[in-house]
Amino acid sequence: MNRYISPSILAADFANLEKEISIINKSNASWLHCDVMDGVFVPNISFGIPVIESISKITKKPLDVHLMIIEPANHIDKFCDLGIDILTIHQEACKHLQRGILQIREKGVKAGVSVSPHTSVSVLSEVIADLDLVLIMSVNPGFGGQEFIENTYRKVSELKNMIEKSNSKALIQVDGGVTLENSKRLFNSGVNILVTGTAIFKSDDPAGIIDKLLAI
Ligand code: DX5
Ligand code: ZN
Repeated sequence: MNRYISPSILAADFANLEKEISIINKSNASWLHCDVMDGVFVPNISFGIPVIESISKITKKPLDVHLMIIEPANHIDKFCDLGIDILTIHQEACKHLQRGILQIREKGVKAGVSVSPHTSVSVLSEVIADLDLVLIMSVNPGFGGQEFIENTYRKVSELKNMIEKSNSKALIQVDGGVTLENSKRLFNSGVNILVTGTAIFKSDDPAGIIDKLLAI
């Protein structure tokens, strides 16, 4: 089974973004995770299109963009035009989720949908076949450095069943509170991609932590 690490740039030192990205470029990380927050869908504002455009010029890793913005439809094309690889929108932020998924796929970008801790993965049953990725939030979206929610394991196993039954090729991603302590159980439960911010960027050896997260 494929196992990937997608470091979340939210926990990086923004005054030294180039240096932080070059560390990830040289590491065994698979993707680079960018958290876009609008201050409405989530109680925090992070960064947007200009910053991701700059990052796209120096990253050697595929860009995995996680939109935490209300009604993302108006912005999907602009993000896809940045040359990103995966665009994930929130189920709770979309009135017409299936339309948003098609909009992403029509741009040739992999489509992901995220569910917050209060949302059952069962709400994705009608769109699972069209998805490249499902992101299960293991903290309430908005901030790095929060504590992992244990109910995530149950949701991962429910999602895994749904994916198998529907012959979907969607990968399972988990985001929030991922550490060296819970990564093994998450990968063994069927998670394909772990997003990790604090555990990687707040350590003295980000590339070493990525190797440890992968070495299970
Ligand atoms: C939270 C973000 C996460 C966050 C993860 O809303 O989606 O990607 O940066 O950070 P840690 O690993 O610190 O929980
Ligand atoms: Zn994220």
